[in-house]
Amino acid sequence: MIDRPTILLIAPTHYDVSYSINPWMDPQAWSRDPRGMYRQAVASFESLRYALEASGFAVEVAQGAPGQPDMVFPANAAVVLDGKAVLARFRYPQRRGEEAPFAAIFDTLHARGLIDSVAMLPEGCYQEGAGDCIWDAQRGHFWAGFGPRSSREAAAAMSRHFDRDVVALELATEQSYHLDVCFCPLAGGEILYYPPAFTAAALQALHARVPVAQRIEATEDDLRHFSVNAVNLQDQVVMTRTTPHLRDELGRRGYRLREVDLAPYMMSGGGAYCMTLRLDRTSAPVRRAVAA
Ligand code: ARG
Repeated sequence: MIDRPTILLIAPTHYDVSYSINPWMDPQAWSRDPRGMYRQAVASFESLRYALEASGFAVEVAQGAPGQPDMVFPANAAVVLDGKAVLARFRYPQRRGEEAPFAAIFDTLHARGLIDSVAMLPEGCYQEGAGDCIWDAQRGHFWAGFGPRSSREAAAAMSRHFDRDVVALELATEQSYHLDVCFCPLAGGEILYYPPAFTAAALQALHARVPVAQRIEATEDDLRHFSVNAVNLQDQVVMTRTTPHLRDELGRRGYRLREVDLAPYMMSGGGAYCMTLRLDRTSAPVRRAVAA
């Protein structure tokens, strides 16, 4: 197991936007200038990598596979905690071809001692990785999104595997097709979230566990900027170019933002968080890390 904050990225060599499985994906916009878009995607990837390193992460870059453009979103590859990885099962055929190359990447991580064990989910249960199963280090449990992509049963499967509580939240819209689009726990215990993305029951579950002072409500504008999809390490936050609202709100609470232009990935429905996968998460209790 790794003992420092470490993130897996997938090189954008095979990235494009050539199909549409969420309402943000715009293959037509991409096809107007594929070479220009690709160049921008490579530059954006480099600036993300730089921002992550500057925030204190070690970064591992693995190679994607031809014909699997969405591998650049490794948050969907697996759920990782305490050195244990559970590989994802994708809902849409367009992404199922990622399962074998991601399994090979995890075999390599295992062989290098960066991951202790790699497991599969039961057949027929969809689960799209850390994008839909987010560890809350302050509360010591997972939050699992289900509905558009992951199955409801995936929450219980994760809970059994990791022997940790999993609070399942039903997603109400296709716009927030993964939990990480509309929900982000922060090191100070706050939850940044977009309320209209959730069913009434999900909001109730969230509000029961998060006091008002720790709720940061994102606006539709914040969501459209893909800024809820953020990577946080103590007081450091890496996100897409964001809104005045979130700059103020997070700044006031003691966070330092690093904003990266991720436009070519937003065209696929992704932001900073889903381009990353934390490999070092542990269930060990943490101290509250941010003082405003
Ligand atoms: N085009 C990808 C899809 O629709 C984007 C995935 C972004 N990942 C995420 N965890 N939000 O599956």
